[in-house]
Formats: sequence, structure tokens, C-alpha cells
Amino acid sequence: MEKISVGLLGFGTVGTGVVHLLTNEQEKLQQQTGLSVQISKILVKNLEKTRKFDQYEQLLTLDPSEIIDNPEIDIVIEVMGGIEEARRYIHSSLKNKKHVITANKDLMALYGNELLQAAADHGCDLYYEASVGGGIPILRSLTEGLAADRITKMIGIVNGTTNYILSKMSHQSVSYEEVLQEAQALGFAEADPTSDVEGLDAARKMVILSHLAYSIPVTLEDVNVEGITRVAEEDIQYSKKLGFAIKLVGTAEVEDGEIDIRVGPTLLPLNHPLASVDNENNAIYVYGKSVGETMFYGPGAGELPTAIAIVSDLISVVKNLKHGSNGHHLFLPNQKKQCKSADSIESQYFLRLHVKDQPGALSKITGLFNEQEISLLKIIQEPLFKEKLAEVAIITHTTKQLQFEQIYQLLNDLDSVIEVKSYYRVEGMK
Ligand code: HSE
Repeated sequence: MEKISVGLLGFGTVGTGVVHLLTNEQEKLQQQTGLSVQISKILVKNLEKTRKFDQYEQLLTLDPSEIIDNPEIDIVIEVMGGIEEARRYIHSSLKNKKHVITANKDLMALYGNELLQAAADHGCDLYYEASVGGGIPILRSLTEGLAADRITKMIGIVNGTTNYILSKMSHQSVSYEEVLQEAQALGFAEADPTSDVEGLDAARKMVILSHLAYSIPVTLEDVNVEGITRVAEEDIQYSKKLGFAIKLVGTAEVEDGEIDIRVGPTLLPLNHPLASVDNENNAIYVYGKSVGETMFYGPGAGELPTAIAIVSDLISVVKNLKHGSNGHHLFLPNQKKQCKSADSIESQYFLRLHVKDQPGALSKITGLFNEQEISLLKIIQEPLFKEKLAEVAIITHTTKQLQFEQIYQLLNDLDSVIEVKSYYRVEGMK
């Protein structure tokens, strides 16, 4: 049987998962491709480290050129992470006519188009299913399963760390800091969780999804990003009372050729399917003009789920090799980019305010909304006895972003309002 030779750049969590599948699922691979896929070399940073698969010890190398420049290797799998080094290695591999599979969302969000073009120029494949949603086959769903449809909107819970933190805050009534510390102690959240909790990881994934769903060349600068660090327990409790869950969601919506792409803490009605996506799970809700609403749900990270996406890419590349069709899997954005301006963006909003507990305070607030022609959907008030204040939580009907920004300012200036404590967008209402 003909042999296909694979080089691995990296042997961390995801690399271990890939080795696990390539070792234990040979039969499945041969069934799918009719060929034998073998690991030839694995790039590591430390030769001495104890690893799960010690039978591959003789394949380990510290020298990337043993993979990138090795004429025996057909396919390179990049699972080392980071940006500049990985970008260089992938360019060199493509130049040397090796097909590449990567799980690197940071790299693909920033330099995906450049790398995809390089792959096409060299007649090579570049697959990256694992870069968004771990084990969820969302990239294939957008480029194949829904290829015939016109996607109008995507709402994604695409970051497991923040979804875990917000789920725990909601179900166990603990603070952001407490859950983060617990998640770090369990090795679940990164020691430096900045890119997760500040929304950057989710923004990168929404950029990749938007390229594929809309073919619009958005960049990270086009994404309005807010993380979860200012989400208070009170926001979660009031949202629940009003019938909503708070999630860190990415939304990318196209209307009349204009895109609005953002990541931020967002309220979802408790009966929306995304509201019950808990813990480290991911889900992407896709609206198609013809298909209607679809949801793709599953584990967004982890050794084996991520490895499944990579090895499925590997199977695609090997099948292409068999059919001589490599280098044609090119999804470069080909539409003009036009971002929606603030005066055309509309949303519903949640607000939480501290107000003076005195006669007429609530009517002044509702009067202001009335003057600004913003209609209220729900409103609740609870006393804050200790502070001799009241806490008011509001859900508005759909309003223009500019109009909302105006009322936010006016509320802050209102004599009876001590402070607008928080505000978030609301998504997923019919
Ligand atoms: N840090 C990412 C997350 C890992 O929390 O979802 C998967 O990309």
C-alpha cells in the first residue's frame, strides 16, 4: 500500500491528540483514503520531556528543517501555535510543495489570506478546520454543507474559557475572579488568560468565519471587541430574572452588502438554543436565507476533539492527493468590504442602573426613554437597602445604536440616576 508521510510541528496537547488518532485509527484512515498515513518526524522544543507516546522517541527532532525541507514528507501539520515562527514554517513548507494543516486561529485570522494565496500559488492544500470550534466541523459546514445558501447572520459562542467562566458565575453565583482562579488551578484557563477574557480569541474566530460565510475580507480592526472582565454577578442575576442568560458571543451580520462584526457579553433569551450552551462548549448559530436557522454545537477545544478536526483535514488532503486535486481548496474573500456605520446599526439593550430611592425617580427614567422614542420591553426594580438606593434593570426594544448611546449619556446626567452600572446588547429575540 502506498505510504503518505506526515511531519508534525509541535507535540503539545493537540499534537498528542493527532498522534493518538494516527496511531489508533490507522484502519479508519486506510478505509477512508485507501492509503497508509505514517508520522515521519515530530518537531519538539525539548527531547527529554516525558510523553504519552514514547514509541515515537526516535522521530523527535529539534530542527524544523528536518520536516520543512525533508523531501520524504508530503504533509505538514502545524500544531505549535504562536504566529511569526509558524507563519515562516508554513510558507517554507508550501514552497517545498508540502500540503499544510493548521489549528492556528491566531495565524489564520491575521495572515490566512496570505497563506491561502501562497498555498494556491504552489499548488498545495492548506486546511484549518481546527482553528474555529475545535471538534465542530463549522468551516466545512459553511463552505460545503451551506455553500448554496446566502448566510445573513452568525451568532457564535466560540470561546470555551469565557463560556466556562460565565456558566459557573450563573449556576454557582460566584464572582468572575473566583471562577477564573478555579479554572486556572484546574489548568483549564491559561495562566495568562488575556486573549480569552478580553474577547480577542473569539474575535479572531469570527474573522475566520466571516471570510468563509460572506467572502468579505474583514480584519481584526473591523471587529468591535469587548471582553467579560466587567460582567458582574448582579448583571447575571438580573438577566436571569428578566429571562436571559449572558454569554460572550461573536456576531457577524450582513445587510445590503454591509457587515457588522462584534464580540461582547450579550444577553440571550433563556429559551434560545445558544443560552443552554454551557461550560467549555462552543456553538455557532447560522441564519441562512434559504435554510433558515441552524446550530452547530460541540466541544470547542481539547486534545481529541481538536485532533479530530485536524485528522479529518488530513483525510481531505490525502483524498485530494489520490485524485490529483490539491491546490484547489481556496476560499479567499472576494467581495468588497463595507462595514455598517453606527447610524444604521440596531439592537436591543440591557441596562442596569443604581438610582435614588425617592418618589418619581423611575418615572423620570421611563420619561427619558419616552422622549428618546426608545420603547421598553421589560423593567424591574429591587431595593438596595444598605445603600438606600434602588437597582433598576431594563431590556429595551430594538433601537438604533446612536440613539442608545445618546440615552446612555442622558441617563448618566439625570439627577435621580447615581450610575449606569452596565449595559449589554441583547440577541436572539424573534
Ligand atoms: N482558548 C480557546 C478557548 C481554546 O478557550 O476556547 C480553543 O481555541
